[in-house]
Amino acid sequence: MRILRYSALALALVAPVAAQTAKKAQPAAQPIVVYKTATCGCCTKWVDHLKAAGFAPTVHTLQTMDEAPVRKQIPAQLRSCHTATLEGYLVEGHVPADVVRKLLKEKPRVQGIAVPGMPAGSPGMESNQPEPYDVVAFDANGKTSVFAKR
Ligand code: CU
Ligand code: CU
Repeated sequence: MRILRYSALALALVAPVAAQTAKKAQPAAQPIVVYKTATCGCCTKWVDHLKAAGFAPTVHTLQTMDEAPVRKQIPAQLRSCHTATLEGYLVEGHVPADVVRKLLKEKPRVQGIAVPGMPAGSPGMESNQPEPYDVVAFDANGKTSVFAKR
């Protein structure tokens, strides 16, 4: 009888600690703000790709991409169907989630990264005929460099 009482007490003490540890093991989702248009299906698929990779997107749905406040900061030749911002960086187009993570980890002195156009096989543009593409970094002067290759 006494043993039973002690083990119940032990369980009551241990259980909340275990619950807390479990919560800590799961890192908080990385916030990202996404601007897209209402009719863009591949944008929604890219947002789903981010969610699956541990991001927490806040999505703003616009009539046209020109309404996005950050849109004019994207060099014209690098533009795609959607624009996102996180931690002071711009992310344009179908950039793979792991490349966004690389950006946050390496923190290069750039304004953002972009996958220009909408290459087949990029996240949200799934295709059985994928094509190679570059993730391009750009600075405020429009200077570009290859940040990642896919
Ligand atoms: Cu797209
Ligand atoms: Cu898009």
